[in-house]
Amino acid sequence: MSIFLNNEFDCMLTDEMKNAIYQAISQSEKAKINIYLIGGIVRDLILKNQIKDIDIAVEGDAVCFAEKLVQHLNCEIISAQENLRTAKVKFPSGIEIDFASTREEQYLDSGMLPVACNFGCELEKDVKRRDFTINTLALILTGDEKFKLIDYFDGYGDISNKQIKILHDKSFIDDPSRIIRALKFKKRFDFEIEQNTSSLIDEYLNNINKNMPLERIKNELRQYFSIKKQNIYGEVIKTRAYKLISDNPVQDFNYSRLLEITDYELIDEKDIWFIFICLLLVNDNYHKEKLNMTAFEIKVLDEVNELLSEKNIKLNDNERIYKLYINKIDLSVAIFYILTGEKSVIKFLTALKQIKVLITGKDLINLGFIPSKYFSELFDKILKEKLKGKLTKKEDEIKFVQKFLKKQSR
Ligand code: CTP
Repeated sequence: MSIFLNNEFDCMLTDEMKNAIYQAISQSEKAKINIYLIGGIVRDLILKNQIKDIDIAVEGDAVCFAEKLVQHLNCEIISAQENLRTAKVKFPSGIEIDFASTREEQYLDSGMLPVACNFGCELEKDVKRRDFTINTLALILTGDEKFKLIDYFDGYGDISNKQIKILHDKSFIDDPSRIIRALKFKKRFDFEIEQNTSSLIDEYLNNINKNMPLERIKNELRQYFSIKKQNIYGEVIKTRAYKLISDNPVQDFNYSRLLEITDYELIDEKDIWFIFICLLLVNDNYHKEKLNMTAFEIKVLDEVNELLSEKNIKLNDNERIYKLYINKIDLSVAIFYILTGEKSVIKFLTALKQIKVLITGKDLINLGFIPSKYFSELFDKILKEKLKGKLTKKEDEIKFVQKFLKKQSR
């Protein structure tokens, strides 16, 4: 039985999206090249999820196709990958569409990036390179059967049965980042990982290729940990998917502490994913090196480790607490709290962090001090007093430093 998704196409895409796609269709019909909506967009049309990205497969050369769109319409190529024959095109309405030549892929070395070949091949060959059946669906755009679903692997059935299923048994060996993708789709759509797929994940995790590059895995973890649902971390521990990047992760963490610390505005929502990565990596220097971390990410991890090494030192003195946290990145302090529940963090955030010396260098000069390195010593002395709860007003600080003025003039 043929399935057509005209209704879904009509109802779920904006007018701008539909117009851009129709412009591409008209170009494909002129050029007699078949184009298809492919992958995530078709899956999301069936699931009636919001459509974010539009991917079109071109049974031909997608870069040439994009150049034609530029020639005939007021389109712009924003980026192109010549080696993969893909192009991102911006339409006059601002809508962007990714065009990719159909292709086959060969994994010459397990876990490494595949080698692409046979560009412009038949659609069936292209979908065979993909990860899960739910991502193999295509929608005909060119010719008389517009919006007819092409489904070589019963992806439609798997979407209906909420199943995540790989296409072949070597899929995770070829590309272990698909393990995180499976968890991502499971959590995002409330699907189940089909039994054989789940066994193959287990099998791979028992026998990990330690030489694989971890960048794609990090990228998938970033997407996975950005899903706003409970227990996303727990799932990575329970399934042992953490083994892809860590031998010794924090096994369980206190979710309520994460919620508690968000109230103090230390964490930007876009950094939440990185908190979970830190929980995986905090005990594991070896993998940290391989994850192509940014300087900021490395600094946060180092600071968290530094704070952890001070964990058992009694932190009951305000000055000590202040000095420990004041120059640390907010995110590091937040992660330290999530890991340890260390009460001094809350004391720092609620009572100490705001303490500032009120007088300035200019004030000191007006009082008769001669500018020197001694200024910073003075500021430090004032701060120490303030941390004891003294010198709350600027006048108190002035009175306090005046004692030292006498000494300096002696
Ligand atoms: N793909 C794959 N293996 C990967 C990554 C991607 O086979 N490791 C394939 C999938 O078939 C996917 C397509 O490439 O449909 C495009 O990848 P991506 O844009 O990441 O997938 P989407 O399904 O669009 O996912 P999302 O909704 O998260 O953007």
